[in-house]
Amino acid sequence: MVKAWYMDNDLSDQRLEHHRNPPEFISLDDLYKKTGVEYFNININTFTTDGVLDKIKKDRGYTYEDEIVCSKECLPNYEEKIKSFIEEHLHTDEEIRLVLDGSGYFDVRDGSDHWIRIAVSAGDMIVIPSGIYHRFTLDTNNFIRAKRFFIGEPVWLPYNRPADEMPCRKDYLHKLEKGFVDANINVLYVLKFLKLRLVKTKFSLDMAEGMIIFTLWYIALAYNYYK
Ligand SMILES: [Fe+2]
Repeated sequence: MVKAWYMDNDLSDQRLEHHRNPPEFISLDDLYKKTGVEYFNININTFTTDGVLDKIKKDRGYTYEDEIVCSKECLPNYEEKIKSFIEEHLHTDEEIRLVLDGSGYFDVRDGSDHWIRIAVSAGDMIVIPSGIYHRFTLDTNNFIRAKRFFIGEPVWLPYNRPADEMPCRKDYLHKLEKGFVDANINVLYVLKFLKLRLVKTKFSLDMAEGMIIFTLWYIALAYNYYK
């Protein structure tokens, strides 16, 4: 099960836990509120048949997936290579990973520019929003096998910090300021309310009201998708 905590400022071996003293853990809810990072727990023994991952892929439009392995055996110049992973960067798209085996750390910056370390292992699926500064490292196990997902043609290009002028960074900061939870809850509430009204009017055969509500529902849905 995933755990997240605020990091210390020690620059020694990146593969260590780097807890603060005393440790400051952060819940998944707070992680989402403070960064927009989303988490899903996937049963890796049944995910090919239980439909949970399929639903996430369908709901979120993930059309591409592949599998990667990082280990001492797979990566030439391993020690040098993992140092390049830890370079702080952002992407123009979400970074979506499902860990199938092994473990590692995703580090993300919160709104105050503090590092939060997210420890992932088998069954942990995380979605790192576009525009957030982040980095990845293996831990002392030196092994991870994970699925990568993408909407459309995959683009893995990292933009190292500073990338403050990029539109995706500005968009991320706008969402951060607006509040991830409040924005989503409000739109979801509207969607739920309109959907209920739509079902109700279907039975009362009030076509005019039904048309208006359907239009509003569609606009709210489109807003939720494109915001
Ligand atoms: Fe990345």
